[in-house]
Amino acid sequence: MTDNKKIVVLGAGGMLGTDLRKTLEQRGYQAVGLDLPEFDICDAGQLKVAVDTADILINCAAYTNVEKAETDERIAYKVNADAVGMLGEFACEKNIPVIHISTDFVFDGEGDRPYTEEDSTNAISVYGASKLAGEQKLIESGARACIIRVQWTYGHAGTNFIKKLFEFAQTRDTLKVVDDQVGAPTATVEVSAAICRIIAIDAEFPVGIFHFAAGGYVSRYEMAKFAFEKKGMTTVINPCKSDEFPTAAARPLNSRFDCTKIERLLGEKIKAWPEPLEEFLDQL
Ligand SMILES: NC(=O)c1ccc[n+]([C@@H]2O[C@H](COP(=O)([O-])OP(=O)(O)OC[C@H]3O[C@@H](n4cnc5c(N)ncnc54)[C@H](OP(=O)(O)O)[C@@H]3O)[C@@H](O)[C@H]2O)c1
Repeated sequence: MTDNKKIVVLGAGGMLGTDLRKTLEQRGYQAVGLDLPEFDICDAGQLKVAVDTADILINCAAYTNVEKAETDERIAYKVNADAVGMLGEFACEKNIPVIHISTDFVFDGEGDRPYTEEDSTNAISVYGASKLAGEQKLIESGARACIIRVQWTYGHAGTNFIKKLFEFAQTRDTLKVVDDQVGAPTATVEVSAAICRIIAIDAEFPVGIFHFAAGGYVSRYEMAKFAFEKKGMTTVINPCKSDEFPTAAARPLNSRFDCTKIERLLGEKIKAWPEPLEEFLDQL
């Protein structure tokens, strides 16, 4: 059962936004999706209309090119920080609840313990710093905001780590994959289902930061092995370290999340990573 709430999804054409919109519609919500080129979150007039017409606003829009952000700092901050602050101000004026998606890149990835929401942030890339600034601006706006940090997400819309590996495997017999980055591959359909549960909560709208990731942890290398084995691919995968792949942007080695807080809110454990990943692979 859903009420007649109008849910406006920003970034609805992206990887998460696509699944989220579909999931909302399947559950009977009136979902309106907005994205570039028709809708620009940095355009104050367009953003105000989007907020004013929503009962709940979900922001999946972001500048997500981690590598390019290192040289495109201005645009990364404009989309990921300034626009999110503006969104908070408009939402606060109208008392519209906001669900905003953020990232593990707000952390430096030091240590080997799963991050809780209370842990100190320390972004090590422009993308991470711009997303962190967005969180801070949203909180400072005074809007009723539920910030959900996700990590290692994958879905059918757009590109992701697994799809890229499969592409590389088309032309190579062996691949090197890093074994010093650890996290939990998390399906966008699972994130979408969790967001639907949050919207359906009868009690007060949950304000604050929440970590959401699939259960369990795995290295990128182990994840790649799992995916290639499930698809019966013969490409040999060898482990390597992150410093063998110099990139413009530094990536956190430890992306593990402690999800106790959101599991309490949802009233259930988040599925362990293998099952949703297997379903995703079956559909590829
Ligand atoms: N993918 C991951 O592993 C991951 C991990 C942690 C957190 N996240 C977070 O998850 C959220 C969803 O990301 P995603 O994975 O779905 O990435 P995505 O596929 O890149 O989706 C982002 C969407 O935002 C749109 N967008 C960019 N600039 C915009 C603007 N100025 N106005 C309106 N829309 C704009 C993009 O449009 P264009 O494609 O046309 O640019 C795209 O449709 C983001 O907040 C991201 O930071 C993702």
